[in-house]
Amino acid sequence: MSERSITPLIVVVLLLGTLLALRSLNPPAPPPLPVSPVTVLAPEMVPLVTGNEPIAEIFTRAGCPVCHLVPGIPGADGRVGPPLLLATTGPVRLADPSYRGQAKTVHDYVVESVLEPGLFIAPGYPSDTMPTWYGAKLSARALEKIASYLERQGMSATQ
Ligand code: HEC
Repeated sequence: MSERSITPLIVVVLLLGTLLALRSLNPPAPPPLPVSPVTVLAPEMVPLVTGNEPIAEIFTRAGCPVCHLVPGIPGADGRVGPPLLLATTGPVRLADPSYRGQAKTVHDYVVESVLEPGLFIAPGYPSDTMPTWYGAKLSARALEKIASYLERQGMSATQ
């Protein structure tokens, strides 16, 4: 081979080498992992809630604020599920012709919604999203306090 044909070859090899070196110095960032509230809230991350905690702690320990707006609970402004304004929305659910649950009162509707979320899906919200394991994490006392609190929250001019 003549010197003339080798020179461009050397240039190409050098360029390729530089490019490869730069690539390994600067590896492309991995694509961000999809984060859904469901993967954020695994059951092992939620401690048992006894019901002796202050009401705000009952909600935050259970992780409800990740997905729900709960009036009066600091930081509870999740948008995955419906705002928990059950004094307003509860009677609407119970009167819904497609409601198939057992609850006759808003209080019982809240308990039922937490223990068996799949029984009735609030219209316009995703199914299979609310955790189904709350029966194992919330004591009866905690559940009662949640229901008593939520049945009193409704829409008002200030919310
Ligand atoms: C990972 C998200 C998520 C978490 C955490 C979650 N929920 Fe939900 N929840 C939903 C979604 C989505 C719906 C609407 C679909 C359905 O009805 O199942 C819903 C529905 C409800 C309803 C029925 C509301 C209505 O307007 O009919 C109640 C009550 C409720 N959740 C209470 C709770 C409570 C209390 C907690 C905490 C102990 C909680 N949720 C935790 C996602 C969540």
